[in-house]
Amino acid sequence: MSYLKNVDPDIYNAIFNETDRQSTKLELIASENFVSEAVLEAAGGIMTNKYAEGYPGKRYYGGCEFVDVAEDLARDRLKQIFKCDHANVQPHSGSQANMAAYFTVLKPGDKVMGLDLSHGGHLTHGHPINFSGMLYDFTGYQVDKETEVIDYDRLVDKAKEVKPKMIVAGASAYPRFWDFEKIRAACDACGAIMMVDIAHVAGLIAAGVHPSPIEYADFVTSTTHKTMRGPRGGVVMCKEQYAADLDRTVMPGIQGGPLMHVIAAKAVSFKEAMTDEFKQYQKRVVENASVLAQALMDKGHRLVSGGTDTHLMLVSFIDIPKVTGKKVEKALDLAGITVNKNTVPFDPEKPFVTSGIRIGTPAVTTRGMGPNEMKQIADFIDRAIQNRRKEDVLAGIAAEVEEMSKGFPLYAERMKEGV
Ligand SMILES: Cc1ncc(COP(=O)(O)O)c(C=O)c1O
Repeated sequence: MSYLKNVDPDIYNAIFNETDRQSTKLELIASENFVSEAVLEAAGGIMTNKYAEGYPGKRYYGGCEFVDVAEDLARDRLKQIFKCDHANVQPHSGSQANMAAYFTVLKPGDKVMGLDLSHGGHLTHGHPINFSGMLYDFTGYQVDKETEVIDYDRLVDKAKEVKPKMIVAGASAYPRFWDFEKIRAACDACGAIMMVDIAHVAGLIAAGVHPSPIEYADFVTSTTHKTMRGPRGGVVMCKEQYAADLDRTVMPGIQGGPLMHVIAAKAVSFKEAMTDEFKQYQKRVVENASVLAQALMDKGHRLVSGGTDTHLMLVSFIDIPKVTGKKVEKALDLAGITVNKNTVPFDPEKPFVTSGIRIGTPAVTTRGMGPNEMKQIADFIDRAIQNRRKEDVLAGIAAEVEEMSKGFPLYAERMKEGV
């Protein structure tokens, strides 16, 4: 990094300030995490220089013998972790992983069903402003108004009525376990292909603390940078019958040269995901989420579906006049706590305002925080919400947050060396 300081001090300073931000604030964005130094080393390494269109052993470029090692390891480890037939580790992102699965089996205009964005789904699950909603004829399904949990019987009825070619399960903001057997039943009721986007819960599934969709789904897509704690990127897993078509869809269908440095870093994170330490970590992520959720509810906050089974929860302000996700996100930011505003089911507010916030525990758990800190964090959040217009109170909470963070150092060597 001393090179960077000399060549581009502006970017050097931006990276230093970001390292400082990550280590002094409380990161509660459910889709973020802190990767290991080993993952950073691979992601920042010289494999970035290599063109490797194609797949291991069948490349369009020479000199691929070492990047082949990286991609073979990434694929094999992913298959071992999830026990899937086939894995493609080249998608540059979760969105491209979803595009790859869709393009492998769907034609423009085909009917698809996915969870509505405002009920926890993702943009790539059929939102009209996303390629998925533009290309395919998506029908959304929703959570039940009372329980705020997916009503699988209603889903089966809807599937019979719509007769989609594919049903997409998985979400960005759904705090409960999915019942993949029931999703399969809905697919079987109408002859649909089953795709599950496990971007959020992949790490939990890898560690066995969330049910796995692998035996039921035709396609399973994921990001690698959320609970999986790897570099930013995507992967697709599928049944053997789709393997060759999927690989052709990823390259040359929708991508050119794979990001080999990122694939190397994916392989490293998958090796980490096979350890007992990772399994214990994922258990702590879920335990911390449950403690934080209960502590918030004890303070009178309303959580969508009444709690969480996973790494995330949604706090709803839908019943509180004039309180919005946007205002709470801002107040928490001033208090040194990073969350994102998020729509809640049946939200009357627009996506840039929202009636909720999403909170997740993967990043703070990586720092080593446990149940005691979760109770303390619930107290910070509660005080910040109550005092959301009082900047001096929020600044006081930020100082407490910084003090607490010091007990859980992050990237300590980078902070010391000024990188
Ligand atoms: C469920 C789900 N799928 C896909 C994605 C897209 O991933 P990316 O941001 O890497 O494109 C996300 C990201 O938030 C997600 O939550």
